[in-house]
Amino acid sequence: MALLLLFFLLLLSALPRDAAALTRRDFPGGFIFGAGTSAYQVEGAAAEDGRKPSIWDTFTHQGYSPDKSTGDVAADQYHHYKDDVKLMHEMGLDAYRFSIAWPRLIPDGRGKINPKGLEYYNNLIDELILHGIQPHVTIYHFDFPQSLQDEYNGLLSPRFIDDYTAYANTCFESFGDRVKHWVTVNEPNIETISGFDDGTLPPRRCSYPFGVNCTGGNSSTEPYIAAHHLLLAHASAVSLYRDTYQVTQKGHIGITLLGLWYEPATNTSQDAAAATRMNDFHIGWFMYPLVYGDYPPVMRSRVGARMPRLTVEQSKKVSGSYDFIGFNHYPDNRARADKSAFNLKQRDYYADAAVIVDPVTDIQEGYVEPPCALGKLLEHLKLKYGNPPVMIYENGYGDIPKTPSKIEYDDDYRSEFLQNYLEVLYLSIRNGSDVRGYFVWSFLDVFEVLYGNVRRFGLYGIDMNSERRTRYARNSARWYSGFLNGGELRPVSPSWKAYGAA
Ligand SMILES: *[C@@H]1O[C@H](CO)[C@@H](O)[C@H](O)[C@H]1NC(C)=O
Ligand SMILES: *[C@@H]1O[C@H](CO)[C@@H](O)[C@H](O)[C@H]1NC(C)=O
Ligand SMILES: *[C@@H]1O[C@H](CO)[C@@H](O)[C@H](O)[C@H]1NC(C)=O
Ligand SMILES: *[C@@H]1O[C@H](CO)[C@@H](O)[C@H](O)[C@H]1NC(C)=O
Repeated sequence: MALLLLFFLLLLSALPRDAAALTRRDFPGGFIFGAGTSAYQVEGAAAEDGRKPSIWDTFTHQGYSPDKSTGDVAADQYHHYKDDVKLMHEMGLDAYRFSIAWPRLIPDGRGKINPKGLEYYNNLIDELILHGIQPHVTIYHFDFPQSLQDEYNGLLSPRFIDDYTAYANTCFESFGDRVKHWVTVNEPNIETISGFDDGTLPPRRCSYPFGVNCTGGNSSTEPYIAAHHLLLAHASAVSLYRDTYQVTQKGHIGITLLGLWYEPATNTSQDAAAATRMNDFHIGWFMYPLVYGDYPPVMRSRVGARMPRLTVEQSKKVSGSYDFIGFNHYPDNRARADKSAFNLKQRDYYADAAVIVDPVTDIQEGYVEPPCALGKLLEHLKLKYGNPPVMIYENGYGDIPKTPSKIEYDDDYRSEFLQNYLEVLYLSIRNGSDVRGYFVWSFLDVFEVLYGNVRRFGLYGIDMNSERRTRYARNSARWYSGFLNGGELRPVSPSWKAYGAA
């Protein structure tokens, strides 16, 4: 009888599950569902309690965000963190992903700790833990202290590595008794392009003919130098954590990359090769050294002498320097081969990769694209990079409210978007990918890196006209909460059944 039962159980587990009936219990035990934000985008209180400017404050105050908005107030979480943690608890989140503002904790970038900054993060972390919510903490998320930028040009100097490591040490020492998931840096594979190649984000560096109106720079060299220092700073913080803290604090540490996936624009072999190159430039730039201890061969050969070298010692320190990798995933892109008529002078990086990139989906209201790209990214990580433990640290849908001043609850397309991704995630995990968690971007409306206050990604909306920054639950917040509390996903969308959903 027992044997028969066992046989039945085996048979059941071997059967493809009907994705239509997915619930959170279908994900592996211990799978973490969360939502996220980052410091400058959510905290506000930019000049309060001893916080000093980051390069991002400088950028927004010079009027460079698309709608000229700033993060001075943003969602004002600095003053509302208790209310927000209560909302997270009611929603049923396992975890909250946020970042520590370097210029709040160590306002001059180096040296004295700001007691008010320390107190704020201690309070936030304690409040989360009191409500049973894991803190997943990014140490550096674009908000580099302006004082260090002025002193030595920030990421362009190797001095960044020591200052970053000292700051990370303060984080481990102060919060590591309670924080069990650390991310060293966020999206170094785009921060460097936007900041140093096309100059669209701080510190706005680029050189002719790439980008416009920059403050100086060299698009051909600086992105690679900045990335090199970020990689070394990451490895330095990981080895510090492993040597000094991990045994007693028992946490995990990793890095978070932007995880776009490039598909060929057409089915020519040239475009297929272009997409492969672009994925190596985008993902491989960091994954290859993290796994194999050097930059990808295609980058070495195409970028040549402009690509920094890793010494034997650096290579040893970098390779294997992660317990998990975070990926921020957004809709896919198309890569086209350079057909010698290369005239898109946006970024030298594209010229180096010899591709033209067409973003297919400038996310539009109501448009929900098939989420196959996430499955392909995870499959790629499995086959090429040894199937690392992965956290999907961002995934979300940005819309532009029709009437910005009006409170709008109706965002069912957002719920649909998120369900599609959860289904693909489930299929990828079933197919062997080692994904450990999924975080919606964003928990509530924040000051957006690329869109200021124009595009909103929040499960919770914020009335940006109210001084109190009143939060309200969008339909997607109710939907996610339902799922987190055991609800079923809606039937699989026919548009991507071909991907492999039963
Ligand atoms: C660049 O600067 C010029 C002159 O100040 C200005 O007219 C133009 O709008 C700027 N372009 C961008 C993209 O900021
Ligand atoms: C960028 O740096 C490279 C290598 O040092 C140099 O050859 C090139 O002329 C520089 N470009 C600019 C615009 O300064
Ligand atoms: C591309 O795919 C289409 C549709 O499957 C097919 O008709 C066409 O022949 C293909 N072209 C090439 C160059 O493979
Ligand atoms: C599932 O994994 C196998 C082995 O890696 C791979 O060949 C197959 O394409 C994967 N399926 C999907 C849908 O990714």
